[in-house]
Amino acid sequence: MSRYYITTPIYYVNDVPHIGHAYTTVAADVLARYHRTDGANVFFLTGTDEHGAKVAAAAEARGESPQVFVDSIVDRFVSAWKELSISNDMFIRTSSARHKAGAQAFLMQLYESGYIYKGVYDGLYCVGCERFLTESELTSSGLCPDHQRPPVPYSEENWFFRLSAFGDQILRAISNPKDEQHFSIEPPARKNEILGKLRLGLQDISISRKTVEWGIPLPWDETQTCYVWVEALMNYVTAIGYHDDRETFQKYWPADLHLMAKEILWFHTVIWPAMLMAVGLPTPRKVYAHGFFTLNGRKMSKSLGNVVSPTELVERFGVDASRYLLLSEFPFGVDGNISLDSFASRYHADLANDLGNLLNRTVNMVNRYLDGACPPAPAARSPEDELLAEIAGGLSQTVRHALERLEFTGATDAIRATVSRANRYVDVTQPWVVARTDRARVSSILFHLIETLRLIGIELLPFMPDRATSLLTQIGVPATAAGTRTWGGFADWSRVAQRPEPLFPRLDT
Ligand code: MSP
Repeated sequence: MSRYYITTPIYYVNDVPHIGHAYTTVAADVLARYHRTDGANVFFLTGTDEHGAKVAAAAEARGESPQVFVDSIVDRFVSAWKELSISNDMFIRTSSARHKAGAQAFLMQLYESGYIYKGVYDGLYCVGCERFLTESELTSSGLCPDHQRPPVPYSEENWFFRLSAFGDQILRAISNPKDEQHFSIEPPARKNEILGKLRLGLQDISISRKTVEWGIPLPWDETQTCYVWVEALMNYVTAIGYHDDRETFQKYWPADLHLMAKEILWFHTVIWPAMLMAVGLPTPRKVYAHGFFTLNGRKMSKSLGNVVSPTELVERFGVDASRYLLLSEFPFGVDGNISLDSFASRYHADLANDLGNLLNRTVNMVNRYLDGACPPAPAARSPEDELLAEIAGGLSQTVRHALERLEFTGATDAIRATVSRANRYVDVTQPWVVARTDRARVSSILFHLIETLRLIGIELLPFMPDRATSLLTQIGVPATAAGTRTWGGFADWSRVAQRPEPLFPRLDT
């Protein structure tokens, strides 16, 4: 059995979950569900990044210990993902004893590898980013571009990782598919950015902090804690038992896919692979960076007060429609814009009208003309039948092809096109007219519609697990045994629902 290990970034625990985090997490969930129904042994990991100066400061402001503080807020992420039907196999918290033990084991390996040394760090640190910024990253007035605050000059004795020793190896691993340590970076534009930056050469990085107490102590020098970013990356291996469960670790590592947005790609394609190379572990197979989205043309931010939470989205559109709308608005690999107004229009157009209507009219007609019994597959076919069968029968290949490339809009577009084609088929074949004279023909038409709906339902399952299950149930197909993804791949037809249940009720405007 093939296996599929997929991860999202671990989100900063003191952030309030918003639809930006949801975007990545839902995308990963669709892939995880898709691969599960495809028969792979999937491990889907998400979680929270809980150490660092920022969290410690927030805890202190509340008069709490950092651990009490993070324990009291982590549920925001856990429940946001429950609310969005996220099917993660594990939720890792970096403040857990298990992650700490794993990270220390990894650090010790790193230390023993000979790539760690003591040095002095002089730099400009942005607490908001939890990292040092270079002069060239600052705005013209010397501020951190993301936080609009000046970084603080900072100098201390730290432990360093000899990142500079890995430049050539990483370049080769990225650019040569035949390289032993090859991993791919997608989309190509992102890969080229990383390659361009890599060619400028690598500097060693400081991996520890003297002044940050809320972190994991270096096992060989407990006066320093591990720099949060370095520690956070290790979650991908500690979660699957790097230090305490060899069997699971060997089963799932290297990860098939690290998914994230573009702003943290460097950490995942340069620093992380170098750390892995240093300790002699294989690199992840693929790192994919999707774009950032703005809301109504503006960056979502607390200060602008325009942050939308997953809960707000779900209250407005329901869980499954929210998942679908997030992923079908603009192509995954590029930046885009979303707006709740355009979500509402697409909710009505794609879901309530096109898909809802198709199911509704098909179930009604099977009840009216065939007493609710799903018809058998017909022998002869008209040209319209053939066309519909060809399009619906090819849907699963198109979806597979799209999802292999993380082209979620490619998948949803193909599903939508099949729905419209089926609606047009109803208009052209006019079963309500045929029913008066030709029962065999009406039965054949309805078979084509039901079979098309079955194939649509199967492909919708990863995107909208609950609504697709309802769709399949209403046409008399159990979602857990829905047959093959090919035309005519189901034999056990029973009766359709006596009354169609609307999949997507119209929204109050
Ligand atoms: N804790 C680090 C990641 C460590 S991974 C070892 C971090 N956390 S974060 O909470 O800031 O999450 C960043 C991720 O949130 C992005 O990479 C992306 O997956 C998601 N997004 C946050 N806002 C987003 C948008 N507006 N648009 C798209 N993705 C967004 O960085």
